Amino acid sequence: MKKIVISTGGGDAPGLNAVIYAVVMAAQFRGWEVYGSRQGYLGLLDPDELVRLTPKDVADITSTGGTILGSTNKGNPFSMPVENIAGDILIRDLSDRVMKNFNRMGFGCHIAVGGDGSLEIAHRFAVEKGMPVIGVPKTIDNDLQATQLTFGFDTAVSTATEALDKLHSTAKSHDRVLVVEVMGRDSGWIALNSGISGGADVILIPEIPFDLDVVCEKINDNELHDKHYDIVVVAEGATAQNHETIHKGDGEIGRAEKVLGGIGEWVAKGISERTGKDTRSLVLGHLQRGGSPTTFDRLLALRFGSTAVRLAETEQFDHMVALAGDEMCSVPLEEAVKCRKKVPLDSDKVLTAREIGICFGG
Ligand code: F6P
Repeated sequence: MKKIVISTGGGDAPGLNAVIYAVVMAAQFRGWEVYGSRQGYLGLLDPDELVRLTPKDVADITSTGGTILGSTNKGNPFSMPVENIAGDILIRDLSDRVMKNFNRMGFGCHIAVGGDGSLEIAHRFAVEKGMPVIGVPKTIDNDLQATQLTFGFDTAVSTATEALDKLHSTAKSHDRVLVVEVMGRDSGWIALNSGISGGADVILIPEIPFDLDVVCEKINDNELHDKHYDIVVVAEGATAQNHETIHKGDGEIGRAEKVLGGIGEWVAKGISERTGKDTRSLVLGHLQRGGSPTTFDRLLALRFGSTAVRLAETEQFDHMVALAGDEMCSVPLEEAVKCRKKVPLDSDKVLTAREIGICFGG
């Protein structure tokens, strides 16, 4: 009998539980056993953190947010923060321990569900340690080039759009500018899709460094046309021309990337100073990662999970499942982690936004 292990790594995204469900059910269909590794690779480092997953264990989880296995973005076994007796944090390579446990458990495949960081680690295990790995793309940011979409993105955009819809009435009542900071790291997909759908006046994305004077011209122009309130959507990774990205510090121990945040407040302050308009900012933050996955994300996640098991059966390791058009396909993990997907500036979404009067600040 074939035994597989599944892990969920990086920031969570709605749809993770649907992937787990599909993997367990598709494995059961073939008479295979599934184990879950808690908190990313923790279960492969410490077998006490491995959990057997049966159809009974995953019943009813498809519609739930989060991940029943837990997740972390500080758990790279190749550079793991470990506390010594003196209480100091040392970075250690524990990848051999992972492989030892993997082999001892008799696993035939590791299904790694994650974003670019987790998939990079999975690819390293495949190349350097010979682990039979299959990747499943997850991230609300939708920034993986090799797949048309990642699950979690649709839910995050729906949440952001709903928030924008709600903000219109209060912005209008007070003749205010409301600046909304959304997630997405260095890609503007969440800001763009929710901003267009949620009737934003201004959308600021990392792909278009903005000029605050151009943003304020739009707000002043609205005033001239008897529109006294404005909705400004700012991607957390957006930057003003000739400025650095704003982040919340130099990063956390064991984490590869800096935590972004603060650009919304910066933009609000600049608008208020330049236009004299009453301006407020808010950060949607982790609301975008929470809650039940949309129908679209559930279906995509279920298809990804089931396809991953099919790839395991045909031993197409070191590959990631992906969406191409309306079809499932597989791409080498090496390709998948090569570069991040950015909003193309000549895309119809950007053109549509410009044509319906949305300002990008540049
Ligand atoms: O990658 C997903 C994401 O939600 C990003 O949009 C965001 O920058 C980051 O994770 C936040 O990470 P954390 O939950 O660790 O603050």
